[in-house]
Amino acid sequence: MLQLTDVSVSYGPIQAVRNVSATVEQGEIVALLGPNGAGKTSLVSSIVGIIPVSSGSVGFDGEDITRTPVESIVRKGLTLTPEGRRVFAGLSVAENLRLGASTQSDRAAVEETLETYLEMFPILRERYHQTATTLSGGEQQMLAIARSLMSRPRMLMLDEPSLGLAPRVVERIFEHIVELKQSGLTMLVVEQNATEALAFADRAYVLASGKLVFEGAASELASSDRLMEAYLGTGVD
Ligand SMILES: Nc1ncnc2c1ncn2[C@@H]1O[C@H](COP(=O)(O)OP(=O)(O)O)[C@@H](O)[C@H]1O
Ligand SMILES: [Mg+2]
Repeated sequence: MLQLTDVSVSYGPIQAVRNVSATVEQGEIVALLGPNGAGKTSLVSSIVGIIPVSSGSVGFDGEDITRTPVESIVRKGLTLTPEGRRVFAGLSVAENLRLGASTQSDRAAVEETLETYLEMFPILRERYHQTATTLSGGEQQMLAIARSLMSRPRMLMLDEPSLGLAPRVVERIFEHIVELKQSGLTMLVVEQNATEALAFADRAYVLASGKLVFEGAASELASSDRLMEAYLGTGVD
């Protein structure tokens, strides 16, 4: 579904991502792991066209989207929930969710999608008319994810959905990720919480200093203390 071929991303002289080739197949959850500064955010941001790919190519459903504007990529069915759960602070939950559907012209379909995700995230129905700032961190993350889902993606990329959240809340977010997979959504999940992410992912990639250092089954990485220690600095816990 997603095919990266030799993707590099640079900020002036700094090369943040170096020749990354990777795939995500339909129906999979793929974990993208690696330490702080490894290039994970740069990579997912370049895939959706928020920052430019400096060389290499990005294919989605067999189509080259390397230099496609972000809005068009969203229309094609690929959406990113960025790092830092950026919700529109001054707007209500309802307004945030409807903004996520700005690429959708079929109003009946928008209402139907809204109902689907208010069902999945009941807390958002409860807080529907509150401004986003009154939500807890976990609720804001759910809002950010639900807002992305309002564009009816076939593939969703989540950049550190658990960042800064209490373990109990992280567990809830991860349960939603599994629920979304069961509904047929394809996902690429960037995580610092490697052990937990590997528990729900099918496959994993590990980035270090912009380069891929591991690719394989999530279970292979999770079950090897040697690999976990070598790539993620988290052996036996
Ligand atoms: N806007 C930017 N300008 C310059 N350098 C950046 C910018 N964003 C990220 N970087 C650098 O690119 C590298 C990768 O960062 P990032 O993609 O955010 O990594 P990660 O998400 O894995 O923590 C880091 O060295 C970071 O300092
Ligand atoms: Mg990041």
